[in-house]
Amino acid sequence: QPLGSARLNDGMPLTIAHRGDPASAPENTLPALEAALASGADIVEFDVRLTLDGHAVIVHDELLDRTTNGAGFVAEHTLAELRDLDAGTWYGSAWSGTGIPTLGEFLPLLQRSTARALIELKGVWPEEGLAPLAAQIYRHGVQDRVVVGSFEEETLLELWRAAPSLARAAVVRRLPADPVLFAERVGASTVVTSLRSFEVEPHAVDALHEAGITVVVYTLNNPRLWERAIALGVDAVVTDAPRRHAHWQPAP
Ligand code: G3P
Ligand code: CA
Repeated sequence: QPLGSARLNDGMPLTIAHRGDPASAPENTLPALEAALASGADIVEFDVRLTLDGHAVIVHDELLDRTTNGAGFVAEHTLAELRDLDAGTWYGSAWSGTGIPTLGEFLPLLQRSTARALIELKGVWPEEGLAPLAAQIYRHGVQDRVVVGSFEEETLLELWRAAPSLARAAVVRRLPADPVLFAERVGASTVVTSLRSFEVEPHAVDALHEAGITVVVYTLNNPRLWERAIALGVDAVVTDAPRRHAHWQPAP
């Protein structure tokens, strides 16, 4: 089902907290995800990768180097190895000891909240990873509050086969020539792209809406950009400032 087809707040786009609330805590950690749930955001976005031994962990980069005290590819480490890493100190010494969370640790928090989630699968996911991911989502009963996104067409198609009832979001750097056809081909009920992509193709927003597809733009962090998102009529805005966006009102 579409993520935000019902426009809330008289045309104000919904707030999507990017990597949790990265203004409050290190991105994609449990404190950042908890802060996002408490921020007033409608939707919490975060990134998920598969470990070497097939566990879903919440981390953005392909490499561990930027946000942890580890090194090398996430996909070449087991969950036990990743458990030993510090994913907080890079952000500030007060966060030292904060680890990389698993999807399984976040889903109970989502279950207890009323928020929705945009779970972005990073990299190409095989069927062996997608079926357990979907099962975890269903086991926590949050399937109707979750949309699973990916930049990878093959992963969206594989997910469609593995869990046809889960909502999917196609994340794209640029809009394809026919965004509706593209979204329908990959089975996406939401399209996520940059503000710029829609500003050069403003009719695409209406075309997607007419096809029942939700329109999301990333990653807008100030009111000047939020005003432009309103002018385009998008459904939701991904932001690093979820508390501010959730409580912001444009000047009349
Ligand atoms: O899901 C939209 C947005 O999060 C994509 O960019 O690099 O922050 O994952 P990135
Ligand atoms: Ca993301």
